[in-house]
Amino acid sequence: MSHNREMKVYGGIKLYAGTGSPDLAQKVAEYLHQPLCGRDVIEFPNENLFVKLHSSVRGQDVYVIQTTSSPVHRNLMELLILIQTLRLDSAARITAVIPYMAYGRSDKKDQPRVPISARLVAEMIEVAGADRYILLDPHAGQIQGFFSVPGDVLTAFHIISDHLNRIRPTMKDPVVVTVDLGFAKKGRNIAAGIDAPIAFIEKRRVANDAKAQALTVIGDVKGRDVILVDDEIDTGGSIAQAVNLVKENGALDVYIVCVHPILSKNGAERIGSLPIKGIITTDSVPITPEKMVFLKDKLTVLSVSPLLAEVMLRAHEGRSVGEMFNE
Ligand code: R5P
Repeated sequence: MSHNREMKVYGGIKLYAGTGSPDLAQKVAEYLHQPLCGRDVIEFPNENLFVKLHSSVRGQDVYVIQTTSSPVHRNLMELLILIQTLRLDSAARITAVIPYMAYGRSDKKDQPRVPISARLVAEMIEVAGADRYILLDPHAGQIQGFFSVPGDVLTAFHIISDHLNRIRPTMKDPVVVTVDLGFAKKGRNIAAGIDAPIAFIEKRRVANDAKAQALTVIGDVKGRDVILVDDEIDTGGSIAQAVNLVKENGALDVYIVCVHPILSKNGAERIGSLPIKGIITTDSVPITPEKMVFLKDKLTVLSVSPLLAEVMLRAHEGRSVGEMFNE
């Protein structure tokens, strides 16, 4: 056997997508100049899902793109069943690419008799047959410890900072304000990325019913434009309180930045009615046309597709991902 012969462990790259974020999946495919492989995802009258691949994946390096936002349980089951189908068809390696991971907020036992659902989700993805995973800004860092297979945990921070730097000349003395202390470290990175100071809102959650209460601003917002940052906006309750609080404390223009625009219930309408200059987010979660109606004048959606695609390409080729970020 020749010593120069290149070892090739996996076959070609194959892309599959669930139905959770079709536009994002298509953009990733375009970036990689690869088609999304054909598959049927059928829901039977009894709500059971059925998946069939249109072609063989035997020996291939397969990536399954599926965000697990609404409808959460359908999207999650699609992801799991797709992975199992690929495993049973003898894919050589399967990577679950999850731009938004559901249940991320259930990441610890912070009171008696509660689950750690994010760990359960991670374990289910592994049991289904994933060899690797790619996540984007999961709610908490410890989620990567819930997986025992290797993965890449990415952040949209660079994409967001680059955009903020582009619009920074139009802002007056901007200050980055994190909507809660849990986002303080990432908020500090964003502030450093645009060379702005940082302030924090101290928030206390008072019940399990997703109601939040913003209490105090720690830091200086008076006479400044404020960039409010958080990982996700769900119902918009926290961010609405934050906008009001910084305005009461003398903020000028307010911008909202979040990675994952969940916008459940009347979240989009609520955000649309806030006295803000703009909302900057990503396409990790699709925004439906119905929600878009409330936001369109103020909304900027930055695509995470080049980031995901580049990491997938590097993972496929066995190249460093860290060097993309000047580690
Ligand atoms: C919570 O810890 C998260 O960082 C967000 O602050 C939360 O998801 C926002 O939820 P809502 O928009 O429903 O207030």
